[in-house]
Amino acid sequence: MKNILVTGGAGFIGSNFIYYMQRKHPDYRLVCIRLVCIDALTYAGNLYTLDEARKGNFRFVLGDITDRKTVFALCNEEKFDAIVNFAAESHVDRSIENPEVFLKTNILGTQVLLDACNKFDIPRYHQVSTDEVYGDLPLDRPDLFFTETTPIHTSSPYSASKASADLLVMAYHRTFGTPATISRCSNNYGPYQFPEKLIPLMISKALADEKLPVYGEGLNVRDWLYVDDHCKAIDMILENGKVGEVYNIGGHNEKANIDVVKTILKAVGKDESLITYVKDRPGHDMRYAIDPAKIHAELGWTPETLFNDGIQKTIDWYLNNREWWQKILSGEYKNYRG
Ligand code: NAD
Ligand code: DAU
Repeated sequence: MKNILVTGGAGFIGSNFIYYMQRKHPDYRLVCIRLVCIDALTYAGNLYTLDEARKGNFRFVLGDITDRKTVFALCNEEKFDAIVNFAAESHVDRSIENPEVFLKTNILGTQVLLDACNKFDIPRYHQVSTDEVYGDLPLDRPDLFFTETTPIHTSSPYSASKASADLLVMAYHRTFGTPATISRCSNNYGPYQFPEKLIPLMISKALADEKLPVYGEGLNVRDWLYVDDHCKAIDMILENGKVGEVYNIGGHNEKANIDVVKTILKAVGKDESLITYVKDRPGHDMRYAIDPAKIHAELGWTPETLFNDGIQKTIDWYLNNREWWQKILSGEYKNYRG
């Protein structure tokens, strides 16, 4: 029996990780911690997402990772085998509007969890980080990829906060011997993604015959990975990853934004005239591209879902689960407490 603390489990990747782990390891006990405040910090969390998970061997705790008292009380009560930290403010545009909460949750929240690991001798800490810590790559150098030794070079308050957290994790490992690992993944897509991110935003807008806002010329490139492949990689790192190590996760699946948007429009039978080019995101990263050679060679991880299959599965999910995202658009999800 393993008792794992999953932070941020009511969000996109954290919830998919909970479902992945429940399917794969029915003997695990998962405890999910989530933000309690009714403010901008909680907008991305959605208890409807966890309805099915809560039927299993699972406990949900309302809580903020920056709240040391709550986190320590929980770690004292539960004897965790690992903490997997998904909890974060995750949307770049919001970090440009209001950086402060990003620094608080993403950096100070990480520190509280690391302190809890040390105080309660939790044998494993995993930090879910992002390829955005490496900055961006030029479009005219398709031979360049992010490796684990690519220097940190951040562009947005979001990526700066994630990079700061990574540095803290590594410092705790070196100074205190905290048994920590870090993964840096490329853009995820799949079920339960909040409809502010490119793919669910474009699906929901296309279905409503609304304009699809493409930043700049739509030429920026992202390296898309189906969310289950990310969850599988984290599971493998927990099982066999080496503490003190960073693992890049990505599936060599680069697409220009405009091509992703056109793919979505075609799949839902809508016209490209819905596309509208809008003012670019300030500091907009041009291209992300992960070299996943290390996790492949050391842990045997490879992605399983091809983009064409994954995007169709994702579109089908949003078509079959309209209620889920419509409750977000209407705001109703905020009042749901299960
Ligand atoms: P998300 O915004 O969908 O979910 C974040 C979750 O964290 C929400 O449930 C939210 O309520 C919770 N949360 C926020 N502040 C909290 C706090 N102070 N205390 C407790 N819970 C809090 O994010 P996501 O897209 O699922 O991303 C999860 C993690 O993966 C993040 O750390 C992000 O940086 C990283 N990541 C995301 C992607 C991606 O493409 N989405 C790619 C690579 C890495
Ligand atoms: O690379 C990993 C990162 O991917 C994660 O660390 C972040 O948490 C996650 O949000 C994501 O960041 P991006 O900024 O790449 O994702 P987003 O969905 O916001 O945007 C994807 C691309 O689409 C980006 O080039 C901006 C563009 N875009 C986005 C939105 C919301 C548009 O053109 N129009 C839009 O309305």
